[in-house]
Amino acid sequence: MTAVGIDAIEVWTGNLKLDLPGTFAPQKGEDPEKYTKGLGLNASSFPDSYEDIVTMAANAAHRLMERKGLEPDDIGRIDVATESAFDNSKPVSTYVAGCLEQVFDGDFHHANKGERKFACIAGTQSLDDAYNWIKAGRNRGRAALVIATDTALYARGDAGEATQGAGAVAMLITEEPGLVELSTEQGYGSADETDFLKPNQQFPSVDGKRSVKVYLARMREALEDYESVAGDVHPDDLAFIPFHTPFPGMVRKAGLLGYRHITRDTAIEDDLAEEIGRQPRAEAFDDEESYHDALREYMDALKGTERYREWYAQTIDPTLEVSREVGNWYTGSVHLARTSALKHALEAGRDLAGETLLVGSYGSGAQAEIHAETVCDGWEAEIEALNVDEQLAARYDMSWADYEQIHDAHNHDMDVDVEEFTAPDAEFVFDGWGRMGERKYRYVD
Ligand code: COA
Repeated sequence: MTAVGIDAIEVWTGNLKLDLPGTFAPQKGEDPEKYTKGLGLNASSFPDSYEDIVTMAANAAHRLMERKGLEPDDIGRIDVATESAFDNSKPVSTYVAGCLEQVFDGDFHHANKGERKFACIAGTQSLDDAYNWIKAGRNRGRAALVIATDTALYARGDAGEATQGAGAVAMLITEEPGLVELSTEQGYGSADETDFLKPNQQFPSVDGKRSVKVYLARMREALEDYESVAGDVHPDDLAFIPFHTPFPGMVRKAGLLGYRHITRDTAIEDDLAEEIGRQPRAEAFDDEESYHDALREYMDALKGTERYREWYAQTIDPTLEVSREVGNWYTGSVHLARTSALKHALEAGRDLAGETLLVGSYGSGAQAEIHAETVCDGWEAEIEALNVDEQLAARYDMSWADYEQIHDAHNHDMDVDVEEFTAPDAEFVFDGWGRMGERKYRYVD
């Protein structure tokens, strides 16, 4: 069977940065460690006044196509995943194609374009669409361009304000990929939930505490579903587990729950039993409450064990390194987590070819999906080509007054003009409005 997966990846961060412990915490009268230790975030990325979901998506795609030496004819579909769309009819992918046609010879007239929506899981769903299209033999040898792009803004004063972020991840999906091959096996956990939604509004209505519970419940269902088709997952078989990362503290909870699940009935549970006892089993309890109390106690003990801490440091923590500096990129977040892990492995000189990643995606509303990925030979070259650190370092560090202005500038209900804080350099920029209310873009050399 032909291998299908991600051939190459590119990342584009918003050009502005908000320092959470240094700038945000003092304004909120909060301990900076609530952000750095509790949520696990140092900073958020923001779009400058000339940036939006289209420019970030087009800039990531432009870098990707240039680096891979591609022309529009090589691309058979462009799928954009976003939950920050500004049009209920015309998809963001058409704007992105229009941008790319400004800088490449040829056009995308024979490429299928679309837009996927299901909160943060839509990026992974677009990946699936591309995978299925290639597996079905409908691609005529062409690649798919999948772009996850979002401006994750919350209303000022919302609890989610600390977890904002903005950026895009572009992925090239091909046969015989150069980065990771996707598994056929997938598991889903999906239910009609009201945890986070935007009923025809720009900023989300969020029940933050509930959204954390829903994430964990759906992720567990997805893992069980995945194991029902792929067999039991064992912690020692996984190089990394990139999870959807709304903020690293969320993944800390998911990692612990996942570890408890995948070590049950294994030699690891036996080894740990001497120190913290065996995992509680429902059948040993008279009622659900005492079972849940015992589970909580076991999890508290588990997270303090050397064995778990080592596993977390190796398998989960490296997936969070970029996210800590940029915040939530919604649809791009799990794909940034994968990138972060591979970047970490490259810097550590680790040989990952043939190793397995277990990828846990999630979207509010709500659905989780689990699949596996096998790292391909030659993956190092793809990751080496990224300039994530340079992009992060080049961001303009906003003062509180700058932040207030830029939040207003991106608020669809406000009409404020804000001078740009950075000078665009070899990138697409927003260039005003057209006669039908469409957005216009131009490439700045
Ligand atoms: N030092 C260290 N840790 C601290 C701290 C301090 N001074 N102050 C707080 N913390 C910890 C808390 O204990 C908590 O960690 P825990 O959950 O592991 O106990 C964490 O920091 C967050 O604090 P909390 O008081 O719960 O934050 P909050 O109520 O302001 O907001 C969310 C948390 C998740 C509700 C909020 O960020 C949100 O609504 N986010 C958007 C929705 C979202 O991303 N959901 C995730 C699923 S998609």
